[in-house]
Amino acid sequence: MIDLRSDTQTRPTPEMRAAIAAAEVGDEQKREDPTVNELERRAAELLGQEESVFVPTATMANEIALRTLGEPGDEVIAEENSHIFLAELGGPAVHAGLMTRPLRCTAGRFTPEQIRDTVRVTDGTHVPPTKIVSVENTHNASGGRVWPIEEIEAVVATARELGLRRHLDGARLMNASVASGVPSVTIGGHFDTVTLCLSKGLGCPLGALVAGSGELMATARRFKHLFGGAMRQAGIVAAAGVYALEHNIERLAEDHDRARRLAQGLEAAGVPVDLEQVETNFVQIDLAPLALSPKEALARLWEHGVGLSMTAHPTRLRAVTHLDVTDEDIERAVELIPRALGALAHA
Ligand SMILES: Cc1ncc(COP(=O)(O)O)c(C=O)c1O
Repeated sequence: MIDLRSDTQTRPTPEMRAAIAAAEVGDEQKREDPTVNELERRAAELLGQEESVFVPTATMANEIALRTLGEPGDEVIAEENSHIFLAELGGPAVHAGLMTRPLRCTAGRFTPEQIRDTVRVTDGTHVPPTKIVSVENTHNASGGRVWPIEEIEAVVATARELGLRRHLDGARLMNASVASGVPSVTIGGHFDTVTLCLSKGLGCPLGALVAGSGELMATARRFKHLFGGAMRQAGIVAAAGVYALEHNIERLAEDHDRARRLAQGLEAAGVPVDLEQVETNFVQIDLAPLALSPKEALARLWEHGVGLSMTAHPTRLRAVTHLDVTDEDIERAVELIPRALGALAHA
């Protein structure tokens, strides 16, 4: 099976497993785990922040960040299909009591004007105050799209002017950084809080970080405990993170190259693919011209030995490259995907 469903499908390599086996550990809740401490130090540096806090998942990192930045009744603005709105089970409402204001956007990116048009100014009676703006980079639902740094700077400047706190869901920030050539420290440094996921392209079995100022991270640590995320000998897992930050960032360029080759091969074979959209490790296939339902198409692909997955868009599927996908897999997928979809399209 060529598993292109998601970059969450990576398995730890023998080298990563060796790092896990050799990890020095301690009580993480007491800040006595040297490997967790080392991971948090390195991640903070990479994300342009004073401190970072190790948590089990990027969902928890986002939820802790939002809870840290807002109070119940405050509003958070984000793109309508952003992960915090679409895929965290209403967590911003449940954990932080936030009102959500979704923005309709192209490629997952909104503009300073959209922020200005959306922000509610309140005198403290009746109207809920808009307090947080959340950017997702790369943007999952739009197909791993990257925010140009100038656009980030523009929305951040407007958010600052309007007194909004700024969160970056950078679950795939390293993909954005490698693809754009803009250092992650430059991107992350613009925000109050930053999420980074270790278990996607970076290849760890689990783990994520939330980063911010020392003051905000002191609050984030409280919420981590409150949410049940404070761990014990977590260095066993953090060791994979330290390994990944050393070895698996630059190589994300290989995943991006493979995604591009896959997209080009599929397009040449007549599969509806938008090459413009392929900026990182996602390729989106539009089934509308093929008159196939996503369910039918996924079943046919699976029978042919290729795993793809659904997207937020009703007629688009996605293929995601990652650490466990080889050049040979791409060559094979370029043959198998058109065969699986074409067989139906021309039946
Ligand atoms: C942009 C984004 N943020 C957060 C997450 C949450 O990651 P996890 O499933 O590890 O909690 C994901 C997962 O796909 C994501 O794509």
